[in-house]
Amino acid sequence: MPHAYSSQIRAMRLEDLDAVLAVQAACYPPSMQEAAAVLRARMRAAGDSCVVAEDGNGMCGYLFAYPSRLGLVTPLGAEFAPACDADTLYLHDLAVAPRAHGRGLARRMAGHLLEQAHARGFAWSALVSVQDTAGFWSALGYRIEHAACPAALTALASYPGLARYMVRTLTGPGAPSPNC
Ligand SMILES: CC(C)(COP(=O)(O)OP(=O)(O)OC[C@H]1O[C@@H](n2cnc3c(N)ncnc32)[C@H](O)[C@@H]1OP(=O)(O)O)[C@@H](O)C(=O)NCCC(=O)NCCS
Repeated sequence: MPHAYSSQIRAMRLEDLDAVLAVQAACYPPSMQEAAAVLRARMRAAGDSCVVAEDGNGMCGYLFAYPSRLGLVTPLGAEFAPACDADTLYLHDLAVAPRAHGRGLARRMAGHLLEQAHARGFAWSALVSVQDTAGFWSALGYRIEHAACPAALTALASYPGLARYMVRTLTGPGAPSPNC
């Protein structure tokens, strides 16, 4: 059995749903928790771009992501619509159970998927920062961007509290040019 603090990152599976829900409940207020049916649909639509972290005590974190287009924002509680002509890895939800905070797991999960996205030739990664996490994302190279599309602004407004659209480049320097 692995030591309680040694952890691994692996692809998310449908049978992870209950553990994902438990981590979500520990990390978000009720107004920000997304329904089990939506999480299951996301696993089916984009399971190969979602990961979990587990240690000797079980699952302790997850990251939902999917291929998208720059400038698009996923509303809270919406299913994923992976883009055929994706240029962006959209990180929808990163959460680590409080018992495992501060061990670098969030950074490792994000780094894992960003490496994959880079290898797939995506130009960008984007996300919505909530719960005062802009500093965390800035340290990973993301910058706050103005969401230009009406649909993106509506999607941002679906998040309680301050929600910021953030973008980083994956394939060298250049100014983002939204697709909407
Ligand atoms: C944000 C969260 C994912 C960080 O998880 P974590 O595994 O503890 O983070 P890490 O250990 O990988 O931290 C990496 C660095 O980010 C820093 N950091 C963590 N949370 C931060 C925050 N909210 N703001 C700024 N920096 C933060 C850490 O101090 C660490 O810095 P260091 O390298 O100088 O030591 C976790 O606190 C969480 O699940 N929060 C609730 C869910 C949430 O709000 N998710 C983000 C949605 S956008």
